[in-house]
Amino acid sequence: MPIEPYGGTLVDRTVAPDEAAALREGAADMPRIRLSDRVLSDLYLLSVGGLSPLTGFMGSEDYESVLGRTRLAGGLPWSVPIVLPATPEEATALAPGRTAALIAPDGRVAGLVDAEEVYDRQLERECSSVYGTTDTDHPGVAAVHALGPRYVAGPVRWLYEDDMSGFPDRNLTPAKVRERIAERGWRTTVAFQTRNPIHRAHEYIQKCALELVDGLLVHPLVGETKPDDVPPDVRMRCYEVILEHYYPEDRVLLSVLPAAMRYAGPREAIHHAIMRRNYGCTHFIVGRDHAGVGNYYGTYDAQEIFETIDRDALGIRPMKFEHAFWCTVTGQMATAKTSPSGPDQRIFLSGTKVREMLARGERPPAEFSRPEVADVLMEAYRE
Ligand code: ADX
Repeated sequence: MPIEPYGGTLVDRTVAPDEAAALREGAADMPRIRLSDRVLSDLYLLSVGGLSPLTGFMGSEDYESVLGRTRLAGGLPWSVPIVLPATPEEATALAPGRTAALIAPDGRVAGLVDAEEVYDRQLERECSSVYGTTDTDHPGVAAVHALGPRYVAGPVRWLYEDDMSGFPDRNLTPAKVRERIAERGWRTTVAFQTRNPIHRAHEYIQKCALELVDGLLVHPLVGETKPDDVPPDVRMRCYEVILEHYYPEDRVLLSVLPAAMRYAGPREAIHHAIMRRNYGCTHFIVGRDHAGVGNYYGTYDAQEIFETIDRDALGIRPMKFEHAFWCTVTGQMATAKTSPSGPDQRIFLSGTKVREMLARGERPPAEFSRPEVADVLMEAYRE
């Protein structure tokens, strides 16, 4: 039996091509709301079921409940508000009961929302409860500040004509990933979230996890990230090359998650897990400082939060890993749990350090990066 989608039903708010074309035409006469890239990502994920059981943007009751109790109003655990921000002008044109056209950043119609409610966001409260800080240096907090102050709630439909992920060949919907998992006969599948090129520590924890389950979904997030993260096209070349050389084909699936990164640490780890359950995964890898940024979260906060969430309701199981590194004593990847090394016998580089090396034209060491991945990165940083 495959794992049930979150809340029981896989939501589908996509529309058949003919009907979508007609609706796009009709959208010209509707009030409009301009979407940022990150809200476009949420609209897409709502529409393909990645955020099941949500069928649209949250109303004030769910919003309040998510901020205050980490649950939807109906009680299901939920950690990140899925909201549609509008400017005061956009909101004025929208009496509840009206349908608005949702306009992608490229000016094309992305979808529709049947507006049921328009309400004011609670900026400070949202930031402190989701991000644990109101500091506008935090990229997630800064992104919230940049969006409109009124939230529009209601069910959505998806009308965008093309793939929105940038990777049409690698963008499998939750239903398609579920099909692939079923074809392969995997009873248990672990998902790996990443916004970085896969390095040796990533590979190590993925393979430790894969020893215990049937299959691995490498599921890189390819929506908006902060400007100094490695761009998704470069990362995609890294994923393809490492899978080709170092992973068994019949045990691994590579597909993208077109979500925006929030850098919300613990709360985002729960959110990442919920989406992966909708994609059909039974397990989810949570390593060190998952979805973290700077020093806002403790190294294992994103693991500990799972202890506070109803595990049966969540359904998908976290697989928790300590900080992994190359151990010079044993000559292999390890963590402090499995290695007798002292701190100066451990090789691990931070993402920032690696980017600095690449910018100077230096090659990341083999203990950190597979040579094929290092080649891709060196070439990308030469351009
Ligand atoms: S994240 O923002 O997507 O979490 P990243 O792509 O670096 O960033 O991490 C992907 C996953 O690997 C996360 O679960 C993270 O906790 C884990 N991870 C990254 N580096 C390590 C490491 N050295 N040891 C253990 N886990 C790690």
